[in-house]
Amino acid sequence: MEEKKANDIFKEFKEHSIAEFFKKNKQMLGYAGLVRSLVTVVHEYITNSIDACEEADILPDISVKLIQAGDNRYRVIVSDNGPGIPKKFVGRALATILAGTKFHRYIQQRGQQGIGASGCTLFSQVTTGKPIHVESRTANGESYSCNVSIDTLHNKPIVTDLNGTDRTTNGLTVDAEFAEVKYENSDHGVYEYIRRTALANPHVQILFTDPEGKEYRFVRAVDSMPTRPKPTKPHPLGLSINDLLEFAHKSDSRKVSSFLMENFARVSQGKVEELRDIVEDMLDKDPGRLEWGDAEQLLNAIKKLKWMAPDPSVISAIGEEHIKLALKNILNPDFMHVVERKAALFYGGIPFVVEAAIAYGGAAGKKIEEDIYEGNVLRFANRVPLLFDSGSCAITVAAKSTQWKRYGIDMESQPVSVFVNVSSVYIPYSGVGKEAIAQEDEIIDEIKLALMEAARGVQRYIRGKQQLGLETSKYRTIERYAKQLAKDVSTLTGTDGSEVEKKLETLISKHYPRASEGHSEEDDGDAEGSTGAAVSTATKEE
Ligand SMILES: Nc1ncnc2c1ncn2[C@@H]1O[C@H](COP(=O)(O)OP(=O)(O)OP(=O)(O)O)[C@@H](O)[C@H]1O
Ligand SMILES: [Mg+2]
Repeated sequence: MEEKKANDIFKEFKEHSIAEFFKKNKQMLGYAGLVRSLVTVVHEYITNSIDACEEADILPDISVKLIQAGDNRYRVIVSDNGPGIPKKFVGRALATILAGTKFHRYIQQRGQQGIGASGCTLFSQVTTGKPIHVESRTANGESYSCNVSIDTLHNKPIVTDLNGTDRTTNGLTVDAEFAEVKYENSDHGVYEYIRRTALANPHVQILFTDPEGKEYRFVRAVDSMPTRPKPTKPHPLGLSINDLLEFAHKSDSRKVSSFLMENFARVSQGKVEELRDIVEDMLDKDPGRLEWGDAEQLLNAIKKLKWMAPDPSVISAIGEEHIKLALKNILNPDFMHVVERKAALFYGGIPFVVEAAIAYGGAAGKKIEEDIYEGNVLRFANRVPLLFDSGSCAITVAAKSTQWKRYGIDMESQPVSVFVNVSSVYIPYSGVGKEAIAQEDEIIDEIKLALMEAARGVQRYIRGKQQLGLETSKYRTIERYAKQLAKDVSTLTGTDGSEVEKKLETLISKHYPRASEGHSEEDDGDAEGSTGAAVSTATKEE
């Protein structure tokens, strides 16, 4: 057989756009499996709506409606009260992959890459052949509707049917059809995704209409916006050689010294001088000309110095109070214990905060059958529920290694929910699907500590409850005897029986004060008991 020449082979050489790449590899964006694909769509639109509202300082009000449009085919309509998208950006925002307002900023947000919404447009287009329909109104009163799709060969938006509308409320509505998707009411379905979103975002209100037309209203539990995380600069200890080089080559600074001070957190003139003692000749170089070996030397020098830890105010966690309110609102447990850890670091310089809670009873745990429950672990990253790939997630690993039974908790048979939220400017996901947090030792350790602390809180509660139960039963027995004793004493001595009984009662009450006052379990232990007054939550409106 004649050997093929390189020139012949390379006749086939072509470049492809990122849109073409994702068209072939849509599983990388979370479009794998019918049920998961539908959750991915809803997730992308909801996270965008919440991000946009928070950035505009608006309490998010979101509506998600699913309408069945055929076999494994659904229309998804998501509407928000956010700032909307200016007309001239709508194509690029929703139909250009790797375009958005977030990727280039170092601030804690749900979205990061500029792939989510355009990925949905692409998925709709490749499964139905249709564009998505968009309506928006912005604060300057501009309101319009249009259809949007992607020219995948060039990763460019195609905007058609652009018209003015009489929409009166600000925000964005996306109405798109998807095939190869399925609605399922399971632990991995859209309803559960939305319920968990409400749990980690007590300031968000969501109205969900399922494909049968049933409405579920998740009422907000708090009326205040979460503290806005500060934009930050990367900490030098969190950098890789490649990161440092990329930053350096993009920099306008004339010298490495000023480049370091301008681009990274905690680099002061003093620190530059300390670095000068180790890599003297490097600091006056042009950052644009740094090479791999230089960056490596510089990073080694950076690692030798003592640095101030990153500023934890760059992280916005949910906060203990809000987690309690959300748990009461959504799960209405019999009791719960919430733990918020201080900021810690991973990769040497990236700060993160772990929050954990354990809720017992009410709608906590997973109901298997009537009166049969098992525990479940609710995972969140920057308040976004993670429903898939649980096996490879740092949260699952930490939860599995916790010896629950030592704390009186049985994950196999009790209605327990273990809630964990990891917040950071940069969440290290273990895959592009962003469904699992990478198993970094520092993150796993922090989660373990948070879970142990929460479990101890619950244990104190359970012990307190057991103790109270014991005291109550003793109190009741002695009370019975006291009645008889009072009668006998009265017969023997001729004194007033009720007087004797009263005196005996006072004596017993002194010994068993809590039991005698009829304390309920809520008053006991330092785990928070729920009052049972759940705010109207997820009310079905048929
Ligand atoms: N509901 C919305 N309201 C206002 N702007 C929006 C909305 N949805 C999307 N956008 C804009 O469109 C951009 C692109 O959204 P997209 O979901 O593709 O990327 P992203 O959210 O930046 O990152 P990620 O890929 O992680 O989701 C956003 O950065 C934002 O500027
Ligand atoms: Mg997004």
